[in-house]
Parts: sequence; structure tokens; C-alpha cells
Amino acid sequence: LPARVLAGRHVVVTSGPTHEPIDPVRYIANRSSGAQGAAIAAALRDLGARVSFVTGPAEVPPPQGVEVIAVQTAREMREAVEAALPADAAVMAAAVADWHVANARPGKIKKDGSGKLPQLQFAENPDILAWISRLEHGRPALVVGFAAETDDVLDNAARKRKRKGCDWIVANDVNPETGIMGGTENAVTLISEEGAESWPRLTKDEVARRLAGRIAEALNGGEGR
Ligand code: C5P
Repeated sequence: LPARVLAGRHVVVTSGPTHEPIDPVRYIANRSSGAQGAAIAAALRDLGARVSFVTGPAEVPPPQGVEVIAVQTAREMREAVEAALPADAAVMAAAVADWHVANARPGKIKKDGSGKLPQLQFAENPDILAWISRLEHGRPALVVGFAAETDDVLDNAARKRKRKGCDWIVANDVNPETGIMGGTENAVTLISEEGAESWPRLTKDEVARRLAGRIAEALNGGEGR
């Protein structure tokens, strides 16, 4: 690939977990190091794209040379993505919590010794991938989602692509024995309208470079949607 093939292009990348507060000192969250999202943002940057990197509280630092928008909750993440539009492509690599605590408390919940347990009530979070995929105005030309699955990985991911309305799904098997979660390698299958393409086990950086290359091809060659 020639360098700077994404010059003049804007890509929004979400990454990391979201933290959904229970009270000022407690939260619920998904497990996500943010490593794959950060690698994707860096790879897109290396191809010349302007990258808006919307990240929850991740373990790995954000890459240099991208615009970092740090958020905590899914609702903040959706708003930050919306504020970053328009974009040529969106890569939703964040592990967004499906629910937030509807009865989150402004003060710390006390263990008062009575044995009475706090009762959390949950409310659904916005599905950022489904929302951006179905935007009537200003939908990015290419929307890429992720599917971290433990069972029937390819079937579930293909169904997810349809349900969410995105163009591509990057499916990966996050069974604990794969060592992928929190690790440096990833084994993914790229699912599009055309079918499924399994990539060999690669470093997350290499997965990111391949994906960025495919995004460049799709944007420059009209492939994708
Ligand atoms: O439904 P599930 O969480 O498995 O879907 C994963 C994909 O959807 C990922 O690309 C993730 O970033 C995105 N997602 C999202 N907003 C949510 C939930 C998931 O953007 N609330």
C-alpha cells in the first residue's frame, strides 16, 4: 500500500470499556484493555487519516497523533461520537456496557450494618454501533463493528452484522483459553456482505494494520457497503 492512502479522510474509533457509575466510588464495566482499539487508531493515523479516538478508561495509553476524546459512560461515548461526525468511516472497537445503573447515587452507598443490600436498577445504554449504522443523514460510508464471542463465533457475528446494520464485523473468539483478552495477539474473522475471511493469529498491531489497509481500499475503491 502506498503511504498516506487515507490522507484527507476522517475516521472515528471507539475503544476501551465504559464505566457506568453505581455511586461516586463504584462502577460496572466490561473487560477491555483498549489494546486493539488503540492499535487500530495508530494504524489509521499511519495511513494519513485524521482520527477521532473516543475512549473509555482503558489500560493502554492512547496513541500519539490522534484526537483523544476521553469519556466514562456509554451515553457520553455516544455523544462524543456524534460530536466527532462527519466521518468517512467509523470503527467501533469499544466494549460498551449494555446497561447503566438507573438508580446511581450521588453519594457513596454505605454498608450500614443492617444487612440490607443495595438494589441496583438497570436501564439500557444506547447501542452506538446500531445508532451510527442507521443514521439517515451523515452515516459514515463504512461502519465496522466488533463481535467478541465465546460460542458459535461466526454465526453470532454474522447475525450481529445484520442486526446492527454495520458493513463489516470483526469477529473474535474471546474464550479465556485463547489468551486473547488482555493479550497481545488476536485471531479474527472479517465478516462482510461478501462472506467471512479468517485471518491467521496475528499481533493486535498486525490485525490493526491489515484492517486499516482494508478500510483504505474500501474508501478509495468504493468497496464495503
Ligand atoms: O452487542 P455487542 O456488544 O456484542 O456488539 C459489539 C459491537 O457493538 C462492538 O463493535 C461494540 O463497540 C458495539 N457496541 C456499541 N454500543 C453498545 C454496545 C456495543 O457501539 N452499547
